[in-house]
Amino acid sequence: MSLPDRSAASAPQPAVDRRTFVKTVAVAGLGIAAGAFAAAPAEPAARRRRFALVGTGSRAEMFLEAVQRTFAAQCELVGLCDRNPGRLEGARQRSTQFGAAIPPGYAAEEFDRMLRETRPDVVIVTTVDATHDDYIVRALDAGCDVITEKPMATTPEKIQRILDATARTGRRCRVAFNYRYAPPRTQLKELLAQGAIGDVLSVDFHWMLDTHHGADYFRRWHSHKANSGGLMIHKATHHFDLVNWWLGAQPEEVWAVGKREFYTPATARRLGLQSHHERCTGCPEVAACTFALDLAGAPRLKRLYADHERHDGYHRDRCVFRPDIDIEDTMNVIVKYDTGATLSYSLNAFNAWEGYTIVFNGTKGRLEHRDIESVYEAGPDPRRVERGPGSISTRLIPLRGPARDIPVPTGEGGHGGGDPVLLADLLLETPPADPWLRASNEQAGAASCLIGAAANRSFRSGQSVKIAELVTGLRQPTGLPMPDRRGALPMPPAAGWVP
Ligand SMILES: NC(=O)c1ccc[n+]([C@@H]2O[C@H](COP(=O)([O-])OP(=O)(O)OC[C@H]3O[C@@H](n4cnc5c(N)ncnc54)[C@H](O)[C@@H]3O)[C@@H](O)[C@H]2O)c1
Repeated sequence: MSLPDRSAASAPQPAVDRRTFVKTVAVAGLGIAAGAFAAAPAEPAARRRRFALVGTGSRAEMFLEAVQRTFAAQCELVGLCDRNPGRLEGARQRSTQFGAAIPPGYAAEEFDRMLRETRPDVVIVTTVDATHDDYIVRALDAGCDVITEKPMATTPEKIQRILDATARTGRRCRVAFNYRYAPPRTQLKELLAQGAIGDVLSVDFHWMLDTHHGADYFRRWHSHKANSGGLMIHKATHHFDLVNWWLGAQPEEVWAVGKREFYTPATARRLGLQSHHERCTGCPEVAACTFALDLAGAPRLKRLYADHERHDGYHRDRCVFRPDIDIEDTMNVIVKYDTGATLSYSLNAFNAWEGYTIVFNGTKGRLEHRDIESVYEAGPDPRRVERGPGSISTRLIPLRGPARDIPVPTGEGGHGGGDPVLLADLLLETPPADPWLRASNEQAGAASCLIGAAANRSFRSGQSVKIAELVTGLRQPTGLPMPDRRGALPMPPAAGWVP
């Protein structure tokens, strides 16, 4: 059994030409109904798809609930694997909450045995980023299809192994790019594909992580590049994938600078602390530090991490000001695409608010979009609030024409409504039809990670890095057709001349 793959790069493309797509969505109207983004209910399957999962931490919980509860009529969980026996056992026992049978559990070194004994159709990979490639390649070689969490892999060498393995085995590797599925971002793809601003010549994209979510990367395994590839890979893979997909273009060359200036021992001292420390649990300055995390006091964190430290020594509450951190907190990147389009991107991990702004500059106008995911409210008890009224906006500004605010559809569920729709698309044998072709495979996974890997190299060398020099076997994205870059353009309206 194979994964449905309607993804841009490797699958035969469905019969959607640009004219048909534009006509179809024009009939639906620009402000597409929110229902269009909901995950359609699925029919029970004659044979349930068999899933095994490796990496039973935080992110796995979403997949396990979807397989064992939401899509239980179509899917079954046949095996679980993790290197931490405590977390593994917790995930096994959680099956009973979903009314599902408790699946067998396997230690990390028993992964191949799990595949032999449980014969999954699909292996879901939700381990630490740097270990993805190993499990992906072993699952593909065992004849399974794979769903991997982002980032697909952390270095060009690991990406190459996966490209080679998919070519060698003919199996599918899907990457869980949930950001594509969030309704406001899908709407941008639709507007761009319709030619609302003509063809895109440049993009200005700025992503802000605040000192709540952003700081968390500096506590966890993510704080070492050997685990995560740094935020250029771990986090920006989402953002680079969005741009690759929005533009339907292949990245060619990358220039970047990156630094860590906020999450440092010097900042700890400037904030009035005596020093950085090892971890928040037992820290002598915990009362003075507003970055401290109460690992044992937060029930989910305690259940997932504090209770199982004794098995692997992993501390999820390490000091964000430690000197051994080797990832950047401030990054600026320029990407040149094969269409000639250019991207100017920044990622900043200590910002006052969390979210992003993006602008597409096109031959017929400009598309501006902003999503304020969370802000801090003033008051006697300052609070971080997520998505207040008016926090998302999209504005279309034609050349020499009045700006128009576009109503933005929203969705329910994790990652701005992206997660539930993604899960149906990933897990079901026959998922609901998707006019936006959001499914992504190893080619898209590679393209986005390679921008990050190139940025990491550029940080070190100060030179630009060509994507084609990093791996072989990349193919052109062939998703939804985008506006022609050579065709006739309408003359913009005369608007007088003010000297
Ligand atoms: N798409 C998204 O928005 C999103 C959100 C969160 C996390 N993620 C991704 O999900 C993955 C997991 O992240 P998380 O937040 O759940 O981390 P986590 O630390 O909570 O869980 C990771 C799990 O992997 C296990 N593990 C580590 N190395 C292993 C190995 N070699 N073999 C077997 N098990 C191993 C750990 O014991 C742990 O249980 C990461 O790749 C992350 O980037 C994606």
